[in-house]
Amino acid sequence: MTLYYLLLQYVHIVGATVLLGTGAGIAFFMLKAHFTGDAAIIAGVARIVVTADFVFTASAVVVQPVTGYLLARFLGYPILDGWIGLSLVLYLVTGAFWVPVVLMQIRMRDLATAATREGSALPRLYHRLFWTWLAFGFPAFAAVLAILWLMTARPTFSFL
Ligand code: HEM
Repeated sequence: MTLYYLLLQYVHIVGATVLLGTGAGIAFFMLKAHFTGDAAIIAGVARIVVTADFVFTASAVVVQPVTGYLLARFLGYPILDGWIGLSLVLYLVTGAFWVPVVLMQIRMRDLATAATREGSALPRLYHRLFWTWLAFGFPAFAAVLAILWLMTARPTFSFL
């Protein structure tokens, strides 16, 4: 156990908690804001959520593979096979859903801000985006949960 390894492991675990915590928190606050039906609340919450995603989620998205790769190299684990290889595939799945989710949040924020300014109802596009955003959140979050299981259970298998 070197200090280098312990530090990497610690940062990696902090990254995992940030990823899960921010993801779950954002989903909760966006849902609560949406169901108020109040465009001003939705606009305010979406503004904070977009910032939180850029500050916390985006940082963890970069930190996880970097620290994960360094950990695997230090421990001599194969990167592209077994539980790490499958985690990488799932990580790409998460990313494929997360990127559109961020773009949808930005669009929903702008639509809710415009509706607040104009004193109009939330447009149909907002509602369509909201339900798509919700639907995309499930596979993204499920993939992160599956990665967490793989990272802790570390099942022995090979697909190469
Ligand atoms: C994206 C590429 C990733 C790679 C290459 C990777 C690699 C690794 C490696 C090699 C370990 C073992 C460290 C050790 O034995 O001390 C590990 C542990 C861990 N990883 Fe990852 N990881 C990645 C992403 C993630 C993600 C996205 C999460 C969470 C959502 C995560 C959560 C964890 C946790 C909690 C541990 C500690 C497990 C334990 O000590 O029991 N990792 N990771």
